[in-house]
Amino acid sequence: MSETENLGVYGTMPAAFMPSPTPALQFSPLMPGAAALEQHGEATLAGMTMLAPPGTAERRYAIALALRALEPGAPLTVMAPRDKGGTRIARELTAFGCTVDDTARRHYRICTTPRPKALSGLEEAIAAGAQRLVPEIGLWSQPGVFSWDRIDPGSALLLQHLPALAGNGADFGCGIGVLSRTALASPAIRRLTLIDNDRRAIEAARRNIDDPRAELRWADLRDAGLAPNGLDFVIMNPPFHDGGAEDKALGQDFIRRAAEALRAGGTCWLTANRHLPYEGVMKTLFKQIKLKAEAGGYKIYEAVK
Ligand SMILES: C[S@@+](CC[C@H](N)C(=O)[O-])C[C@H]1O[C@@H](n2cnc3c(N)ncnc32)[C@H](O)[C@@H]1O
Repeated sequence: MSETENLGVYGTMPAAFMPSPTPALQFSPLMPGAAALEQHGEATLAGMTMLAPPGTAERRYAIALALRALEPGAPLTVMAPRDKGGTRIARELTAFGCTVDDTARRHYRICTTPRPKALSGLEEAIAAGAQRLVPEIGLWSQPGVFSWDRIDPGSALLLQHLPALAGNGADFGCGIGVLSRTALASPAIRRLTLIDNDRRAIEAARRNIDDPRAELRWADLRDAGLAPNGLDFVIMNPPFHDGGAEDKALGQDFIRRAAEALRAGGTCWLTANRHLPYEGVMKTLFKQIKLKAEAGGYKIYEAVK
């Protein structure tokens, strides 16, 4: 297949009514190993199907990159649930110069358009959604990553209670590296492995953490065998959303992975919203669970394996 015959896909389409094109190059930053639309050649894709992300800047950025990567005349399909940006897609595509066919299916809006010859506003949308230094937090970040322009209050509470850690550790779901930056202030840390399934977060963390003891991995922690073994500590603010929907099992999976990765006597420092059901699973995996703090709707635990 020549490059101009390539089809692109961004995200996983709702299988019930929209089969993902195959073969197609995956571009979602949330799928480890996927290609980066930012680096794809202009006017090289023969078609693109996109499950658009929910945030406005993130969505306009992804759509603008997709339009830039498509050949003139190539079909673009962009969809999203109505309440997660779906109702805005047609307007956004029209503003880029597209002629849009907007349909509704189940609770989704589906917009299709041929990539027009002349486009407008792409560069501005790409700049507005790009990686940048956020002055308010003094860190590199990007619209779309977790809590991209403010420190999450649960993470802030954990930072207040984190002791000086030592040995080999990991930051599960590291995001842009907020927890790791503080942890690495301890000279007794030998190695810290940062893992996140969001490429944009890993790229930002790479800029935020300039420390030879840090190793960053773009990976999905639900996959077995990813984390190092015999760790002295794990720090985390586990995710509880997957694909925009609340998923309590995801945080519980993170806790299982932490227990697998720790040596006997190793500690897991965890922050969580008070309502999340983590204590049950922690009790089955750890020898001792200490509630170290509770404030502002968050709980901080130290779990000893
Ligand atoms: C609550 S945020 C915490 C981010 C960062 N540690 C902080 O404190 O700001 C959870 C992080 O987990 C990541 N994440 C979600 N699902 C994941 C998965 N399956 N594998 C790895 N990371 C994941 C998200 O991208 C997000 O950065």
